[in-house]
Amino acid sequence: MAAVQICDLHGHVGDPVTLRGWVVTTRSSGKIAFAVLRDGTGTVQGVLSKKEVSEETWASFGALTQEASVTMTGLVRDDPRSPGGVELSVTSLTPLGASPDFPISPKEHGTSFLFEHRHLWLRTRRQTAIARVRHEVEQAIRDYFYHEGFTLVDTPILTGAIGEEAGNLFATDYFDLGKAYLAQTGQLYVEAAAAALGKVYCFGPTFRAEKSKTRRHLTEFWMVEPEVAFNDSDANMRLQESFVSCIVARALERCREELKELERDPSVLERVQAPFPRISYTDAVTRLNGLGSDIKWGDDLGGDDETLLAKEFDRPVLVFNYPREVKAFYMKENPADPRTVLNNDCLAPEGYGEIIGGSQREDDYDRLLARIHQQGLDPEAYRWYLDLRKYGTFVHAGFGLGIERTVAWICGIPHIREAIAFPRQIHRLYP
Ligand code: 4AD
Ligand code: MG
Repeated sequence: MAAVQICDLHGHVGDPVTLRGWVVTTRSSGKIAFAVLRDGTGTVQGVLSKKEVSEETWASFGALTQEASVTMTGLVRDDPRSPGGVELSVTSLTPLGASPDFPISPKEHGTSFLFEHRHLWLRTRRQTAIARVRHEVEQAIRDYFYHEGFTLVDTPILTGAIGEEAGNLFATDYFDLGKAYLAQTGQLYVEAAAAALGKVYCFGPTFRAEKSKTRRHLTEFWMVEPEVAFNDSDANMRLQESFVSCIVARALERCREELKELERDPSVLERVQAPFPRISYTDAVTRLNGLGSDIKWGDDLGGDDETLLAKEFDRPVLVFNYPREVKAFYMKENPADPRTVLNNDCLAPEGYGEIIGGSQREDDYDRLLARIHQQGLDPEAYRWYLDLRKYGTFVHAGFGLGIERTVAWICGIPHIREAIAFPRQIHRLYP
């Protein structure tokens, strides 16, 4: 008998089937016993009657514990009261792997205990729901760019130039060439690719030796970074609102069950539709001061400011034209106010903060070189990057969306470390 997946059982009502999976719970009344089985595609209840199964099967049931792996054979029966609409009348049961004292029980555990057992914690309903939302978000991203005519360009993880900030680099010895840095961004490389292919994006892990232990920071996170030739900052913001609305709509459409498991109110996500409100950095500071923040013009928006400001809107908000002093060297100076740059952040509602950072890029050779000098970066490492301004320079813009922050927001979970299978933080490298 071929093995069947639990998600396909409704098509096998009345048939004998074999399932393989892990035990969630068991209970027994002495004559009738129940074992809930999951196989990664769903869960189903198996029912055993002592007088109808062999002594061996009955004894095997008695030895089952949480997360033991088993094979169960039986007849699929309609059962409108059960979650999948079916149950299994078990005829035989074969243990595969025992699971003595599985560490994660249905009772409450502390956070550090759970992260210490992340490899096992992943099997629980809430964690599988988050994993499926993440999977859908990543697929939605790939589909969006595919249908919009973008070309995926895979950028290097070992790099010779600093992408964002000298302060939080991971460095490693690189043969005779000195230090290599783990990429903080693929942006500089997709800028080169945009001059070759027009609309491009990269999608991969990025690394920042962030000392911050906030619920929004990881040392390794995934980022998707589109870059578009001839887009200015305004077109860049329009792309962001279309992109974010599309991802959220897809999660609402395809992850209903998961969002229900996570007790996420879908109505807050249903409001996420373009256009998004826009506010300049300068107006944002005034507004924040009115709300009680002591932020001064020239300061970067801190996490609390982002939360406070985003609370004023019912969907993500785009904050544009920040002071150049708090932003990266590659952002284009704003001709209307050279104290600022043509950039924007996208702030998610409900305290999730910045999910996107983007900008129009400095396309003038001399200004870019001056910025590199000002920030104390080594112009030699950026020779290739400067070449893009020397050979057919072009207006271009792009952004980076952080996957974990986006998934945490869509799922409504408080900390982004649950939005990735094996989070990396300053104090966590295990498992
Ligand atoms: O604002 P950031 O630093 O922008 C860039 O890296 C640009 N090079 C992107 C571009 O224009 N191509 O980071 C972009 C996003 C943030 O908005 C946030 O969502 C996420 O990456 N992010 C982090 N996520 C988790 N942990 C961290 N330490 C993060 N740092 C940034
Ligand atoms: Mg940023």
